[in-house]
Amino acid sequence: MTLKITWHGQSAFSFEANGKVVMTDPFLSGNPTSPTDPASVNPSTILLSHAHNDHVGDTVEIAKRTGAAVIATYELANYIGSQGVENVIGGNHGGTIAFDGGTTKFTPAWHTSSYSDGDGNVVAPGIPAGHVIRFGGKTIYFAGDTALFLDMQLIGEEGLDVAILPIGDHFTMGPKDALRAVKMLTPGTVIPCHYNTFPPIRQDAQAFKKDVEGQTSSMVVVLEPGESTELS
Ligand code: NI
Ligand code: MN
Repeated sequence: MTLKITWHGQSAFSFEANGKVVMTDPFLSGNPTSPTDPASVNPSTILLSHAHNDHVGDTVEIAKRTGAAVIATYELANYIGSQGVENVIGGNHGGTIAFDGGTTKFTPAWHTSSYSDGDGNVVAPGIPAGHVIRFGGKTIYFAGDTALFLDMQLIGEEGLDVAILPIGDHFTMGPKDALRAVKMLTPGTVIPCHYNTFPPIRQDAQAFKKDVEGQTSSMVVVLEPGESTELS
């Protein structure tokens, strides 16, 4: 089975296998680095890490158009539901939820979670999470926005094919802590994200690749926004 992974910039990814598409954190139209038109994507499932606007992004619009199920922590799922999305599933840390073609298990993430609506109101729906996604014959850890934490050792015990890790620093772990994360997670492949979208999170992903591949047995795939990689 082939799993195609496309990075749309920041933490927005598409995973495609068996004709099904799963997306994470679809921040597309407001993302200065994303070449992807939100009207062009057709996920059956959208997984959210937390409520920040650079993660929720175009979720409501995409879900209303496609009927995609939106899976998020409980309070954020309720908030998305309150915006008119019918198919929302709220879970929480440790819980596994089935979706069309796979499952996801919520992990903790050390971060915050709030949302600014178009009228300038800030709401704080729920807590941040990561996801251990089983889809397309692969196990993928999508860390979301997080600091390094020692319990990544437990996540590594899931047997990870892929770890998608933020490296931008400032709001999340930076490259040095992401390297320490890789040592705990021991994934086959690492894909860095959440960098170069805005000036405070500018990073050299090639330097991160060199450090990880020099110090671990994981391979790092550096994508450009809009670019894909395939795992078979
Ligand atoms: Ni965030
Ligand atoms: Mn973020």
